[in-house]
Amino acid sequence: MQTITSVLEMQILAEDLRSKGQIIGLVPTMGALHEGHVSLIKLAAEQADTVVVSIFVNPTQFGPSEDFSKYPRSLEADVAVCEAAGVDIVFAPTAEEIYPKGYSTFVVEEFIAKPLEGVSRPVHFRGVTTVVAKLFNIVRPDLAVFGQKDAQQVAVIKKMVEDLHFTVDVVVAPTLREPDGLAMSSRNRYLSATQRIEALVIHRALRKAIEMVASGERRVDRLVAEATHLIGLHRRVRMIYVSIVDRTTMVAIKGEVVPGKAVMVIAAWVDEVRLIDNEVL
Ligand code: PAF
Repeated sequence: MQTITSVLEMQILAEDLRSKGQIIGLVPTMGALHEGHVSLIKLAAEQADTVVVSIFVNPTQFGPSEDFSKYPRSLEADVAVCEAAGVDIVFAPTAEEIYPKGYSTFVVEEFIAKPLEGVSRPVHFRGVTTVVAKLFNIVRPDLAVFGQKDAQQVAVIKKMVEDLHFTVDVVVAPTLREPDGLAMSSRNRYLSATQRIEALVIHRALRKAIEMVASGERRVDRLVAEATHLIGLHRRVRMIYVSIVDRTTMVAIKGEVVPGKAVMVIAAWVDEVRLIDNEVL
């Protein structure tokens, strides 16, 4: 496995691999790798000859009051995870490589990025689309794997790929969960034992909605009300949003859900830890 930190070096290597007919699979990450990331790497390896994992805590996707400075950074351990998972190349640039002094160009998706995360994190998706577009230009992947846990991110990136004519196949990996249902996330490291137990209500609320749909309930207001009620029973959990949206456009569904097309998305604070999760209904 090679670890590359220079943009130019990565571009030259990617060009060489492409000229040899290699299919390149990219797994973009911000490090703090866990089993969920390993499942993305495995999915990439099934479809690609060369798997590249990027590790870059992207400053532009964090708002001024967010957790950029304290976001978990564990490059050495991450490189070991990649090695064990059979990754071919780790691309771990510095912030100066990606955003050199005087950098002033951004990629903005203006519709899907607006609601939900876009309301409470107004600069988030501008940072995500910018860095992912850059990674696509640097690594030149044939496919890139993203986790369904970030449902809105997946929808925004798919739209960017379509709108900007990137020839990258966006592959979506299912959310990996802990045995008790908590969606795997790098931010779970922030949770104390008590907070972690409280956080389980997010997945319980999603499961409840799935059960209600399975037993015939289709009314969006009823499904949202039940999930909101369950979350409200937990003093340390403050709901940011509970919404049922179209899984492609992220537009809120009014009236009744059509099973398979709708996704319930939840964001909540567990004390000072911000978590998101979703399930297709
Ligand atoms: O999902 C993430 O970890 C990040 O948003 C991504 C896609 C690596 C961009 O920084």
